[in-house]
Amino acid sequence: MTDERAADSGFGQALNEGLLREPRQVAPKFFYDQQGSALFDRICELPEYYPTRTEFAILRQHAGEMAECLGAHADLIEFGAGSLQKIRLLLGALRQPARFVPIDISAEHLHAEARRLAAEHPGLAVLPLAGDFSAELVLPPPLAGSARRVGFFPGSSIGNFTPAEALQFLHRCARWLAGGGLLVGVDLVKAPALLHAAYNDSQGITAAFNLNLLARANRELGANFDLGGFHHHAFYEPRLQRIEMHLLSARAQTVQFGGERFEFAEGQTLHTENSCKYTVDGFQALARAAGLQPQAVWTDAQRLFSVHWLAAPAPFTPAT
Ligand code: AVJ
Repeated sequence: MTDERAADSGFGQALNEGLLREPRQVAPKFFYDQQGSALFDRICELPEYYPTRTEFAILRQHAGEMAECLGAHADLIEFGAGSLQKIRLLLGALRQPARFVPIDISAEHLHAEARRLAAEHPGLAVLPLAGDFSAELVLPPPLAGSARRVGFFPGSSIGNFTPAEALQFLHRCARWLAGGGLLVGVDLVKAPALLHAAYNDSQGITAAFNLNLLARANRELGANFDLGGFHHHAFYEPRLQRIEMHLLSARAQTVQFGGERFEFAEGQTLHTENSCKYTVDGFQALARAAGLQPQAVWTDAQRLFSVHWLAAPAPFTPAT
């Protein structure tokens, strides 16, 4: 899906299907309409939400080494680009990037941010791509002058995939980025209390972000979710090494949309997000299983967060 209307109409179908499943669930990519993207930007500044500032510090401290890994004249693809904050740290260190292709599901937000970035970097070709990188994707062919294609996937957004889905995504990266590689940010397993606080902030911004999914359904799909009738519910599930976010029905209620009625029992939930955490070794093993080669990893001193460089082997070309 590469156009905004197509992405939006996907929401109605996904919500409908997700409400018919047991347990009820909807993919977290649907959080990111304009309001949701703005709320996410506020999450990134919360005192409890350590990932953004920790990753920023790692990128800032090691941008030179990372640029070495990415190489000169790279065609740079960013997955889930959001507000294009993190790429700015790398762009300063990169040697003559050929082109920057930010991919994001939130089309309006993406295009506005891409225009701003292009204005700041007059020499850089910026080609935003509104679309869903959790599915197959048609990437623009590398430019004639580009040496290799490299991916940038910061923020631990890869944690939204289950490990099985992440493996599938990394497999695609091995193909898309063959001859280059992927620089990916991964949140680490840590004390459950710290994780819990990061997804249950005291200002209620994460709750508003979660509930915006229902507000979006009301706005876009004509649904009648009572926003006061659902609670933000986020907890760490240690066996699966993940935060789960749900919207929990405070009472028995009926919601209508798309000509259908959905009953919620008191305490019944709609599962809206997984945020999987990894150990460094666990993530590197996953990358190897996908055919990528872990070559460098950077973490902060407290080992809250990690950034990995995974080389993607070039396809074998037999000598003639
Ligand atoms: C953008 C998926 C990395 O999982 O931490 C933040 C989204 N959800 N607070 C995360 C999110 C609730 C975030 N990712």
